[in-house]
Amino acid sequence: MLSKRALNLKSSPTLALVAKAKELQAQGHNVISLTVGEPDWPTYKVAAEAGVNAIQTGFTKYTAANGTIELRKAIAMRAEADLGFTYNPAKEIAVTSGAKYAIFAALQVLCDPGDEVIIHSPYWVSYPAMAELADAVPKIVDCKAEHNFKLSAERLEKAITPKTKVFLFCSPSNPTGFVYSKEELKAMADVLKKHPRVAVISDDMYNRLMLNGTAIAPHLLQVAPELRERTVVINGGSKAYSMTGWRIGWAMGPEKILKAIGDYASQSTGAPSSIAQAAAEKALLHSEADIKNTIELLKTRLDAALKRMAQIKDLQVYKPDGAFYLWINVEKFLGRKYKGETVQSSAQFGKIYLEDFFVATVPGEEFGEPGYMRLSFATETAKFNEAMDRLQKMIDQMS
Ligand SMILES: Cc1ncc(COP(=O)(O)O)c(C=O)c1O
Repeated sequence: MLSKRALNLKSSPTLALVAKAKELQAQGHNVISLTVGEPDWPTYKVAAEAGVNAIQTGFTKYTAANGTIELRKAIAMRAEADLGFTYNPAKEIAVTSGAKYAIFAALQVLCDPGDEVIIHSPYWVSYPAMAELADAVPKIVDCKAEHNFKLSAERLEKAITPKTKVFLFCSPSNPTGFVYSKEELKAMADVLKKHPRVAVISDDMYNRLMLNGTAIAPHLLQVAPELRERTVVINGGSKAYSMTGWRIGWAMGPEKILKAIGDYASQSTGAPSSIAQAAAEKALLHSEADIKNTIELLKTRLDAALKRMAQIKDLQVYKPDGAFYLWINVEKFLGRKYKGETVQSSAQFGKIYLEDFFVATVPGEEFGEPGYMRLSFATETAKFNEAMDRLQKMIDQMS
């Protein structure tokens, strides 16, 4: 019955892990989940109230497929204030049902069958699957610790072939939290300038959640505005505004691509939720103080997490510049025995940690980098520390 597309499709591994953690929880276990990429604090009051108000005042009908003009104007205002970019809200911005769908739709309208999409590992789990759903070929460039988990200009250049259509990247990165510097972006831009048919998707999902003292992550278009006409900029309400369940994301870029994304959405999801759009508009206009508090909270939690993790022998932790993930290396524990069985991979390590110690994390295999794990620290410190106590217990039981 099923199409080849469906047969080839893997479900989102992070969501599968969340489901497994929930199953264990339902069996009565005290499960700590460090898996999912979502803040544990509520949607800011100003946005929540705007959502309630939208319901109560009957703002509950279809909007334009590419979003309300009010929200698009708020998005344009933020792009100007945060990055100094000017986008025309009428023609160069589309609101989508989540940023995930904005990336999906961008790949759908940019790629023909067989086109290559350059993605570097460790990558956000959905990128390769989304490229495949566009009938494109994900061309994964492996970026290990020695590469600082980032793509250098040289390695980007080597990966480009006549079939390359899109370069898709994310800064701050999910899963590492690493950020590309202006110099690194400039070097990549110089390579991209030599290849005019390569479009860029810049996933800026975490760019306001900076933990290194800067207000916003440096942007490719700041160092190379010439790339604007072939760059799609992605962002959304989920992370900085703690609106994961509202499902609001957006794309900004040149009119031709943005019109295609809007048309694509109009024939698939239709307009995003009117209620969520009303909430996101107010969030974008009035959340600066809340975001400041969020960043302070994340910094405190990060410091506490790093301090606690430093006590775990042989655990290597990479301090993130942004987002709310800790990328850790567990290779030193591989080859050790647990309950008489040799632990061979980070996936197996994660499975034991979940099934015997009831802590859910995401193994590096899911991000294309075995040997690592991703832990979310958008979690109360007491809970995080309890998870680390359990990790220590697990390690103590390994020989
Ligand atoms: C790197 C990255 N991009 C995009 C998204 C999509 O977010 P949403 O669809 O919730 O807007 C996420 C969410 O986890 C992410 O981590």
